[in-house]
Amino acid sequence: MKAIARAYANFALIKYWGKKDELLKLPVQSSLSFTVDEFYTDMTVTFKDNLKKDVLYIDELLITDKKYTRIHNFMNIVRQRYKIDKYAIIESSSNVHIGAGLASSASSFAALAYAVNLALNLKLSKKELSILARLGSGSASRSIHGGFSLWKAGTDETSYATSLKIDWPEFRMIAVIVNDNEKKIGSSEAMKASLNSPFYDAYVKQSKNDLKAMQNALKEKDIYKVGDIAERNALLMHSTLLPLDLWYFLPDTIKIMNEVKKLRENNIPVYFTMDAGPNVKLITTQEYLNAITSHFKEYPLIVLKEGKAVYGKRIS
Ligand code: DP6
Repeated sequence: MKAIARAYANFALIKYWGKKDELLKLPVQSSLSFTVDEFYTDMTVTFKDNLKKDVLYIDELLITDKKYTRIHNFMNIVRQRYKIDKYAIIESSSNVHIGAGLASSASSFAALAYAVNLALNLKLSKKELSILARLGSGSASRSIHGGFSLWKAGTDETSYATSLKIDWPEFRMIAVIVNDNEKKIGSSEAMKASLNSPFYDAYVKQSKNDLKAMQNALKEKDIYKVGDIAERNALLMHSTLLPLDLWYFLPDTIKIMNEVKKLRENNIPVYFTMDAGPNVKLITTQEYLNAITSHFKEYPLIVLKEGKAVYGKRIS
């Protein structure tokens, strides 16, 4: 009853921001993302007879804080859903900085859902895996898939993400690392607060239009349209936070945003998006990489291509 799985992080082009059901992690609106190749999490899960509770190691360190509680709660859901009476040792190792707005919860819970599926031999479909991963972290529902994926909000417990099957090998994101420390306000907390933002309804309304426009732009592989829609969607999401005295932008975040605009004035199709942290993800295509990266030499840069769907193997 042991398995290992790897899942890749994803970055939203149309953001998931707000839940209509906290416990079930049901989103207010649909979202769309790109799973990336360079950020991933490996999860090993070993169910054992003689354990009195779950045990969590992250990068070989025993964890007992709120990260443990979150994983333990997820494992309780697994035990309840699949009628399992065993606790497990969960070992996570990640090249994503946890809690820095680099989608660590997406890769973690997608990998954990898949490792549990293999260890318990549940034979879950992609849909069931996406639903299970969602119960750990909403955005994890999308990391079950490689490339572009769409998480339809749906109306009930079965809300899940599907692969959009868009073949666009030249599409790139570039992570510009401003600060990779753990953020003070997590995405779950911030999106909950946003529900009371005076701009929240405007965000939800616009994001429905953005989603449609984004799906068309992706079909056309039009980087100008894809980038423009994604950038405005991200700004609208972040605008819900501004009047709440909650924002993730640091001076460098704004500096990068301005530099991106300047590059566009020079006819380079490059756009930005930010999640629950100060780091910026640029959106472009392969042919413009050199022209872009030379403008951000002062920051660590990670060029991101399409990442694979979750995978793994049963060990025993
Ligand atoms: C800004 O999936 O981390 O990255 O469901 O509470 O775990 P929980 O939230 P989480 O939120 C991600 C928010 C975002 C936008 C996105 O990925 O769509």
